[in-house]
Amino acid sequence: MKTLTLRKPDDLHLHLRQGDVMGEYARESARSFARGLVMPNTLPPVCDPAGMLKYKKEIEKEAPGFEALMAFKLLPGMDPGIVAEMKKAGALIGKLYPAGATTNAEDGISSYRQIRDVLAAMEEEGMVLSIHGEHPEAPVLEREISYLKELKDIIRDFPKLKIVLEHLSCSESIAFLESCPGHVAGTVTTHHLLYTLDDLMGGALKPHLFCKPVVKREEDRKALVDAVCSGHPRLFYGSDSAPHPRASKEGGSCGAGAFTSPAALPLLAELFEKEGALDRLEDFVSRIGAEFYGLPLNSGTLTLKKENWTVPGEIGGAVPLAAGETLSWRVAES
Ligand code: NCD
Ligand code: ZN
Repeated sequence: MKTLTLRKPDDLHLHLRQGDVMGEYARESARSFARGLVMPNTLPPVCDPAGMLKYKKEIEKEAPGFEALMAFKLLPGMDPGIVAEMKKAGALIGKLYPAGATTNAEDGISSYRQIRDVLAAMEEEGMVLSIHGEHPEAPVLEREISYLKELKDIIRDFPKLKIVLEHLSCSESIAFLESCPGHVAGTVTTHHLLYTLDDLMGGALKPHLFCKPVVKREEDRKALVDAVCSGHPRLFYGSDSAPHPRASKEGGSCGAGAFTSPAALPLLAELFEKEGALDRLEDFVSRIGAEFYGLPLNSGTLTLKKENWTVPGEIGGAVPLAAGETLSWRVAES
């Protein structure tokens, strides 16, 4: 049987949530990933050293062997002194959510000018700024493009600040990244590489594919696939796996977020194989991101088998991406 063995991947954008379900989501990630960069948009948010270290401990207790890389949320009025403290406590990124842009982001930032002194401290400390780059007041399909102006200003005002543009979703963002200095990089998700608006709502509405930024046009998907499959040196994998309870996704008010980690590697392997780029998958999921963050490369491996596998219908009360579909690759149990 055909197999594919990769250096164990990292998921550099991941939501694990809190409470009873968190352990199940963390163990699901641990099946495919050695490390995950856990997003801080919990309730309350991760925004101080004690809260962050407690959350990390809880995650790692639930999923032994999985390393939780930690993030803190940038909030209006934050004291710049927090940056050195968070760095000392091991935070890898400070995350900027524009206010109201996505799930649990009502307390976010309305302009980067609100947190100038915090960004200056991050630049000084060598802390990475991670950005959900959508302008919440722009029409939904134009939110990412509308945010590029703000990004240009941040890059201009903080020329040494390392920045990750999260979950890039359109061709203009890929072109924009080309114009950025080498210390600006981007993450790409599985769902933005695979789906378009037509998959989301061209037929019956698929709430489990609804996320922010929303999946876009075929030319956008194609630009992402071409960039990633050609081995773009500043694009790396972040699943943005974001489980929501089934009832809330299928009810009258569907929160944004796609639960991608259970099927992430099989879906990526199918895509890279179809593109004739299977040899590039390891760089995308296991090397480029780790190098950008200055992390050691993982020493373990992950083996995928070319064998049909049907994605479970529900995990931890949430419906994973491609639920019920039969994929041609599966993760071999280690
Ligand atoms: C994420 C979530 O549910 O926490 N949702 C999403 O649609 N991607 C938040 C985020 O990363 O935007
Ligand atoms: Zn996210």
